[in-house]
Order: sequence, then structure tokens, then C-alpha cells
Amino acid sequence: MTTTIVPRDLDVEFARVPRHWMAGNPTATAIANGVNLLFPHGERFFVRSVKHFLAEIDDPAQRAAIKGFFGQEGRHAHAHDEFNAILRAQGVEIDRFLERYKRISSWLEARLSPKLNLAITAAAEHFTAILAEGAFTQNVLDKAAPEMRALLAWHAAEEIEHKAVAFDVLQRIDPSYRLRIAGLLAATAILGGFWLWAAVMLMAQDQLSPLRAWRQLGQLPRRDPIVRRVFARGIRQYLARDFHPAHNATERIASEWMAARGMSMPGATTEAA
Ligand SMILES: [Fe+2]
Ligand SMILES: [Fe+2]
Repeated sequence: MTTTIVPRDLDVEFARVPRHWMAGNPTATAIANGVNLLFPHGERFFVRSVKHFLAEIDDPAQRAAIKGFFGQEGRHAHAHDEFNAILRAQGVEIDRFLERYKRISSWLEARLSPKLNLAITAAAEHFTAILAEGAFTQNVLDKAAPEMRALLAWHAAEEIEHKAVAFDVLQRIDPSYRLRIAGLLAATAILGGFWLWAAVMLMAQDQLSPLRAWRQLGQLPRRDPIVRRVFARGIRQYLARDFHPAHNATERIASEWMAARGMSMPGATTEAA
């Protein structure tokens, strides 16, 4: 399945984002900032891993979807780089972590096969699509600072829009179930490991002990069970032999968000495969 995928620009100024921008809650902010730190380098890796196989894709519609995916991920990476600069300006130390994250993940990327890197991207894109769905359906962004709500909703809507691109390339290049599941295992370990590391590193800078962090999460109007909602559900779905990202019919929530802002999502009418 392919859709017309349109990169859109985000025009948001992050300078006024408060340090604890997620519900005024340091722990929730550290968890959200943790995954935000991973985005720029991670999304550029997604692009590289798909670009490696671009010459082998001859279907014009699929090539167009891939180009749209490149455009969207490039813009996302740039927007999150801009926000990371604000974290630095707020005195948050992120560069030691970013340097290690880039060094370790680049080391891995160079040693894994291009097919496995593509399979990792396909699985990671499934996780980001589920995260994106939660951003809209779990009201996760309701209490975020408006600039961050704009950034994350824009990013989430486009993640939903291009959720099948890497998966479809993987199916075209090598539809082996084993390879897909190897990608899932590696993506779970890499995303889960770096996210946890980043969140703990950020919490330590706010003097948040595990107990204080746990209590702060309990103060949120609705605890956000990322481990269950994103990882457990995401893995269970992805293990199904006939899984396809389009089985999660989330296009409507993304297209409604865009329509409310005067944007269209041409692929939203595509039926689930
Ligand atoms: Fe993205
Ligand atoms: Fe993506």
C-alpha cells in the first residue's frame, strides 16, 4: 500500500518553552525529553536505512511515498534539533549523552547488515506510529506547553501518515518473517535502552530519585503506561504473521488534526490493507 505523503513545515518558536513543559511535571518532562533527544539521529538513520535500497524500488507510487517519508523525517529531525538547542540554553546537559548515543548507534549501524538496519527502521516506525496514536487518543499532549503540543502533534500526525513506508520497503526487499522479527528485537532493545538511559540521565539532573519520580507520575491526571501501551501492544501486534501498519486504522485522527489546521492528508482515505 502506498499513499501520497506530503512534508509540511512547522513554524514554532521554542524559546519560551518552560523547563518542565509537560504538565509542569519534571518526571513526565524527563520521559518526554528522553525520547525527543533520540529523534534527530534516529530519524536520519531511518532515512539512511531506506535510502540504501531506493535503487531497487521501481514502483513510481512507492518511490514517491519514500521521497515524502525522507522529506518528513528530515524536517522532524531538524525541528527536534531546534528544541534540543533550547534544552541546552536552559542549562540541561545533553551533549555527553548525545555523543554516546550517536557513537554506539553508529557503531551498530556499521556492523549490522543493510537489511537488518531496514528491519530495525520498520519496527521502530511501528513504535513511533503507536506513540503518535497515543498522543491523540490518550490526551497525552493536553497539558503540554503549546509550542511542544504543536511540535509533537505535527510530528505524530506525519508519523501516522508515513507509518507503512519503511515496512512496505522491507516487504519488497525481503519479506522474511525472521528478518522482520530480528528487526523488532533489535529496535525494542535499542529504543527501550536509549530512551531509559536518556530519561534517567535527565531525571538525575533534576535530583529526581526513582521514588520521587514514581510519585510525580502518580500526580498526573492519567498515568501514561508507555511500557504497556507502546512496547507490549506494539510487540504483540508486530508478531502477527499477517501484520501490516495499516491494520491500525489511525489515519482519521491524524487527518482530522490536519484538517482543523487547514492542511490535508491525501492518503487518509486509503482503506486498511
Ligand atoms: Fe519522524
Ligand atoms: Fe517516522
